[in-house]
Amino acid sequence: MVEWRVVARQTTDSLAEFQRQLLDWFGAHRRDLPWRRTRNPYRVWISEIMLQQTRTAAVLPYYRRFLRAFPSVAALARARGEAVLGGWAGLGYYSRARNLHRAAKIIVRDHSGRFPSTLDAALALPGVGNYTARAVLSIAYGSPLAVLDGNVARVIARREAIEGDLRAPGQWKRLQAIADRWLSGRAPGDWNQAMMELGATVCTPRRPRCGACPVRKGCRAFRLGMAERLPERRKKLAPVRLRIAVAVLLDERGRTLLLRSEAPQASRVADSPGDLATLFSRMWHFPAVASAGDARAELSSHLAGEFGLDGGQWQPLAKLRHTVTFREITIEPWLVLADSLPTAARGRVVALDRVPRMAVSSASRKIAAAALNSLRGK
Ligand code: ADE
Repeated sequence: MVEWRVVARQTTDSLAEFQRQLLDWFGAHRRDLPWRRTRNPYRVWISEIMLQQTRTAAVLPYYRRFLRAFPSVAALARARGEAVLGGWAGLGYYSRARNLHRAAKIIVRDHSGRFPSTLDAALALPGVGNYTARAVLSIAYGSPLAVLDGNVARVIARREAIEGDLRAPGQWKRLQAIADRWLSGRAPGDWNQAMMELGATVCTPRRPRCGACPVRKGCRAFRLGMAERLPERRKKLAPVRLRIAVAVLLDERGRTLLLRSEAPQASRVADSPGDLATLFSRMWHFPAVASAGDARAELSSHLAGEFGLDGGQWQPLAKLRHTVTFREITIEPWLVLADSLPTAARGRVVALDRVPRMAVSSASRKIAAAALNSLRGK
């Protein structure tokens, strides 16, 4: 009995010490980031959505630009879909922008324009999962909710020397339970950010800097000399390689044809449904077709079949590489000078030199730039 109490006290003490050391370290080493200078839930929400699939350094300019364009939930809710996608252009994973827009409208309609403060209400918003809800509520409102993302999971796996695939069934739940137990009730938002910061800057996936770690004392992986080995690497999916032939049509007035499809694109990509839709993400894009063999021939027959376009003067542009999650895409763009542009349902004729400034995906932006450079003889 006596022994049990001693053990329990020790655990509590070491948890308190761990929390204090990590929070002290975070106080001294935290990176000065714009979303850390605010507790405005809208701003915190935008930053957390942007940071989900994009590195901090890359997020910075987009974060500033997006908030200049949409400084409040109400401004975002009022905006046109096209404008929101334009504000997101270049960040990729455009469903994030669409969900933000839908969620902003719901927040205005159901929550008086303020990001909800309960976990259930936050989770009911489109695009807000466990991680985002917990991050926003803890940082903006100080709610005692622990976040679990890849960085936090790695810190936990090392500290507890947890082997195996962290994404295996049941494992994530176990990690969440540990994250919940470790959460410092005194400053939940700081605690969550300290855990993420440690994972991002010290307890890194490769070559962790254990020498600089403020909490290595209680780390089992460090003690056992296995920090580098944990967490165990996930078996990687073999990348899917895709080729896409793209036509930048151009009439003599310098205009081109863009398309937009609602559902996965209706081109004949029976063997890879949705791939073109993933790449262009329902944004305006050049006519394109997935190619298995002779890209030019396939594109040409696509243009003839879809739009009745024959002939034209064809000029190859530099190939581009583009990676979307496990897809490695090679884009083969062609500049096709045509007497006139075909009309197309869901089509739009615009000046080619306007395309880089439109709400298009970064792939389309690069293709337009390649075409313009080629026309300018660069
Ligand atoms: N990654 C995502 N959100 C973060 C935050 N608020 N602090 C540190 N790393 C993060």
